[in-house]
Amino acid sequence: MKSKVQMLLIICCCLFAACLGRVNFPEEEKDPNFWRSMAQRTLQKALTLQQLNQNIAKNLILFIGDGMGVSTVTAARILKGQLSGHSGEETQLEMDKFPYMSLSKTYNTDIQVGESAAAATALLCGVKTNRGIVGLNAAAIRYQCNTSQGNEVTSIFKWAKDAGKSVGVVTTTRITGATPCATYAHTVERHWYADSDMPEEALKGGCIDVARQLFENIPNIEVMMGGGRMYMYPKNTPDVEYPDMEQHNGTRNDGRNLIQEWVDKMKDKGGHYVWNKSQFLSLNPSRVNYLLGLFEPLDLMYEIERDTDNEPSLTEMVDMAIKILRKNPNGFYLLVEGGRIDQGHHRNKAQLALHDAVEMDRSVGRAGLLTSEFDTLTVVTADHSHVFNFGGYTYRGNDIFGLAPDLSDVDHKPFTAISYGNGPGYKLVNGERENISTVNYLDPNYRAQSAVPLKSDTHGGEDVAVYAKGPLAHLLHGVQEQSYLPYVMAYAACIGNNTAHCSDRNGTGV
Ligand SMILES: *[C@@H]1O[C@H](CO)[C@@H](O)[C@H](O)[C@H]1NC(C)=O
Ligand SMILES: *[C@@H]1O[C@H](CO)[C@@H](O)[C@H](O)[C@H]1NC(C)=O
Ligand SMILES: *[C@@H]1O[C@H](CO)[C@@H](O)[C@H](O)[C@H]1NC(C)=O
Ligand SMILES: *[C@@H]1O[C@H](CO)[C@@H](O)[C@H](O)[C@H]1NC(C)=O
Ligand SMILES: *[C@@H]1O[C@H](CO)[C@@H](O)[C@H](O)[C@H]1NC(C)=O
Ligand SMILES: *[C@@H]1O[C@H](CO)[C@@H](O)[C@H](O)[C@H]1NC(C)=O
Ligand SMILES: [Zn+2]
Repeated sequence: MKSKVQMLLIICCCLFAACLGRVNFPEEEKDPNFWRSMAQRTLQKALTLQQLNQNIAKNLILFIGDGMGVSTVTAARILKGQLSGHSGEETQLEMDKFPYMSLSKTYNTDIQVGESAAAATALLCGVKTNRGIVGLNAAAIRYQCNTSQGNEVTSIFKWAKDAGKSVGVVTTTRITGATPCATYAHTVERHWYADSDMPEEALKGGCIDVARQLFENIPNIEVMMGGGRMYMYPKNTPDVEYPDMEQHNGTRNDGRNLIQEWVDKMKDKGGHYVWNKSQFLSLNPSRVNYLLGLFEPLDLMYEIERDTDNEPSLTEMVDMAIKILRKNPNGFYLLVEGGRIDQGHHRNKAQLALHDAVEMDRSVGRAGLLTSEFDTLTVVTADHSHVFNFGGYTYRGNDIFGLAPDLSDVDHKPFTAISYGNGPGYKLVNGERENISTVNYLDPNYRAQSAVPLKSDTHGGEDVAVYAKGPLAHLLHGVQEQSYLPYVMAYAACIGNNTAHCSDRNGTGV
């Protein structure tokens, strides 16, 4: 609510400035020395990078903004600035402050424009694979259970666990979703969340649903947080939070209650299960060894719609996760997914996507406060982009969700700076592009216009950015295959296969 008021204020200011015939930017920017001295400060900082951080990374953190292409990052930066009353363009995201970056090529083995399951397999297992497949190499065929066996690839999550580190996975989607599940699962079909989602043939063939794999593949994952309760409970079990909403009943056919099984197994080991905010807030991380937090039957709420009394934010979850994981003297690996950026874009609802991107960036900042660049390698990236863009020669400080200053020189109607290449925002009125003069395009649920009608927008095929800081972050440079990333992280932490460089500098920190 507050943010909406602030945005309206910004619009009024901008309109006022436009009426006066001047563009609204800080006076100091007229002085060339403003830019010259800023560049010199940046240069001084850059020069310190000549001393490479070659420490062994005790901790590894990977943030995946699902669908967070570069255009999304730029728009989220402007939004973040505008939410605190600035024009926005000059704002720095937390990820903008990372010293190293690279571009990552996001195609999957069988498709040019990447998809989350295969992308997560590249980012976590270091192997590119086919669309829809998780934790299996590209010899596996989607939906064909009988192509799983022998094609499994393990994830850096497992390499870290095997090396004695604690591991955690935190997401705003269901914990069984395509991205988070690449830490622990192997499946020819990303949507096989529970056994009831699987064909009889796959069950007979010995394939196991993703929810069961969460508890069975990697013993004792220290931190698991997200949504997805539905897949953990037997059919006809009402959901604990929405007992009257039958569509949220449990979905398992095998009659198992995976949550209760976990609780029984972990209760003497410092294990805690929580499903709401008050339970979450009552946790004392120094006394929690294992945490299972499932806050919704399916995905968590979009940040802009979140009931803050009922559900933790991504930042709050990351804070809790790190405080639990960092108790291990051997360090930890943490995967964080800002998962609903993608879902907002799929609906052409840019506000949902961008507010979630800002929230993920906030969680990057929180992680930075709780860890040190000295011993923690932190990487922020996306699995793929979206056909999201903004343009239109908007003035400095223009509301990121606002209109371009000029009308179309063809149909003479206004247009928002944000638009999509395709998706459900396509709309004709009397056979013509809608005139949005009387539409509330600042409504959080407004769908930006798209050029091609689709029920759901598609991903975008261009490279995504990789931001890195901490030990050996400089190895993430240039334009690389997405599958390169986990090998850098493993190398920096002296886990996985390539550890010959570690023997003479065992944890000494140089
Ligand atoms: C594997 O399963 C598919 C159906 O999913 C079937 O068409 C194929 O014949 C099976 N292959 C083998 C070798 O059993
Ligand atoms: C949900 O569970 C309740 C309680 O067991 C049951 O009466 C109802 O039929 C279930 N509804 C659906 C859609 O599964
Ligand atoms: C949170 O969960 C606890 C434990 O199940 C329950 O006692 C409490 O009423 C719940 N709080 C809310 C607000 O639902
Ligand atoms: C668009 O709508 C506004 C407000 O109703 C109107 O003034 C304008 O003429 C319309 N533009 C076109 C091209 O129809
Ligand atoms: C690690 O090495 C073993 C033994 O050579 C090999 O089987 C395995 O595939 C390697 N794993 C990775 C992730 O490179
Ligand atoms: C390095 O650490 C490993 C595992 O803790 C240990 O087995 C090995 O002996 C150590 N090597 C050196 C050179 O200290
Ligand atoms: Zn998607």
